[in-house]
Amino acid sequence: MKTRITELFGIQHPIIQGGMHYVGFAELAAAVSNAGGLGIITALTQPSAEALANEIAKCNDMTDKPFGVNLTFLPVVNSPDYEGMVKAIIDGGVKVVETAGNNPQQVLPALQGAGIKVIHKCTAVRHALKAQKIGCDAVSVDGFECGGHPGEDDIPNMILLPRAADELDIPFVSSGGQADARSLVASLAMGAEGMNMGTRFIATKEAPVHQNVKDAIVAASELDTRLVMRPLRNTERVLTNPAVEKLLEIEKEKGADLQFTDVIEQVAGVYPKIMLEGDMDVGAWSCGMVAGLINDIPTCKELIDGIMNDAEEIINGRLKGLQAA
Ligand SMILES: Cc1cc2nc3c(=O)[nH]c(=O)nc-3n(C[C@H](O)[C@H](O)[C@H](O)COP(=O)(O)O)c2cc1C
Repeated sequence: MKTRITELFGIQHPIIQGGMHYVGFAELAAAVSNAGGLGIITALTQPSAEALANEIAKCNDMTDKPFGVNLTFLPVVNSPDYEGMVKAIIDGGVKVVETAGNNPQQVLPALQGAGIKVIHKCTAVRHALKAQKIGCDAVSVDGFECGGHPGEDDIPNMILLPRAADELDIPFVSSGGQADARSLVASLAMGAEGMNMGTRFIATKEAPVHQNVKDAIVAASELDTRLVMRPLRNTERVLTNPAVEKLLEIEKEKGADLQFTDVIEQVAGVYPKIMLEGDMDVGAWSCGMVAGLINDIPTCKELIDGIMNDAEEIINGRLKGLQAA
């Protein structure tokens, strides 16, 4: 399939694996890129710019296809070494950067000056327009369904994607709630030129996370996510577990007085324990409502080939058939 996104990034299929904390290592990024999509390494999971350079080198050894790096700008206490990370990205020959969390203006000149394409992930049309205005090459439009940070507007993709299509000139992909060929065809129908998936890619053979994480996603239904940290205006969609329910109780008790320190035990530093050690109840971890659509753990190639084959069948079979009738 050829879209403005496949052309922009030099990839075979319009499918991107979004940056994911403690999931987006070289193994997953390379597997997605080798399958014809765009795999993405998550910069902030690496402890330093030097470690990121090593992860990029490792990915370069595992694939000769284009892959990307995610640079997330989130409110953190000690600002990461973004300058060093940008240098590692440029020196490593990375072709695409996915920015998220905040305005990426500060990194655009260096990245684009080195020929790197920048796709900014955002949850509102006004932010997408801002990204277009400052010169981003594309945007990833992340709806309310998404795993991770859906923002505070709560607009699902059925509205957000056509709204983005009405306003934007640069190409965009859908993100949040995407799982299969139906998602891809619907996204294309609403004006997107591809789709970005997070949660779906965690439940793949190559995702370098503990088996318990993959099993938890397969076991979960669309009713099993919760929104946490809403009163702090740092909303995150996570899979429910006892720690998340406790966090929500604390939020209820504290009301408007809630401080980050009240919930720190449930959110800070829990990712390595969950993703690498499989200690599933230790805290809150991002997961999309799309878990309800995930029932298997395929390889990235099986997943992507399946989506592209089924998309062809939907477009040229079911939809064409409806039109003829
Ligand atoms: C476990 C997990 C960790 C994530 N970490 C990040 C991150 O560090 N930076 C980022 O920009 N997005 C992050 N995301 C969001 C994804 O890149 C993607 O936008 C989102 O998962 C899309 O929604 P979906 O899960 O419904 O596919 C994360 C998502 C998950 C599920």
